[in-house]
Amino acid sequence: MSVMDTLATRRTYRRFEQKPVPQDVVDDIIEAVRLSSSGANRQAVRLVVVNQPTDVARVQPLVKWAAYLPPEQGTPKADELPTLFVAVVKNTAIPGDPATDIGIALANMTLAAWDKGVGSCIMGAINKPVLTELLGIEAPQQLVYMVAFGYPSHKSHIVPLTAETGVKYYLDENRDYCVPKRSKEEIARYL
Ligand SMILES: Cc1cc2nc3c(=O)[nH]c(=O)nc-3n(C[C@H](O)[C@H](O)[C@H](O)COP(=O)(O)O)c2cc1C
Repeated sequence: MSVMDTLATRRTYRRFEQKPVPQDVVDDIIEAVRLSSSGANRQAVRLVVVNQPTDVARVQPLVKWAAYLPPEQGTPKADELPTLFVAVVKNTAIPGDPATDIGIALANMTLAAWDKGVGSCIMGAINKPVLTELLGIEAPQQLVYMVAFGYPSHKSHIVPLTAETGVKYYLDENRDYCVPKRSKEEIARYL
């Protein structure tokens, strides 16, 4: 797959097949973050891998899916849940604001997984206090995002963003996601 094809198809996935993400993909996710660019090469991003089924099950109720959809459409059912979570953590002992570094790490890790057919959902709507406790994250480490991973059981299509769609994704008649994106003309101009 070309990089542009990978970027076009590496969408957010929210329903998954019930099969584990293999260790080589977990290794790639970690390596993709290890190799990420960071301001002043400070490398403040840390990961906590949650891959044991009992631990994955304990994380499931602590993340919130698809704010634009009613839960019966957007929240995965028991047989559609992700099979891996990775917590993205910042080490606050390292000076500087790593917000951009975290974004780069999120992009790299989700792309690395997708290169092997593993879909993902970056999750900011998470129960941070309970997850912090559950995952044993202690100061100066601070939980920032959870990322859900698994083999997708649906497709996701880019559609033009119009006055009718706005930015809200929706499901089509096959329960596939349709994700409105702005046009190239809207997002870039030549001087
Ligand atoms: C920083 C960030 C936080 C997000 N948080 C959530 C979340 O809590 N729950 C969820 O279902 N999706 C979440 N998403 C996924 C977005 O809804 C998704 O990226 C967006 O709708 C565009 O879809 P696309 O990723 O396929 O382009 C998040 C994405 C990002 C980048």
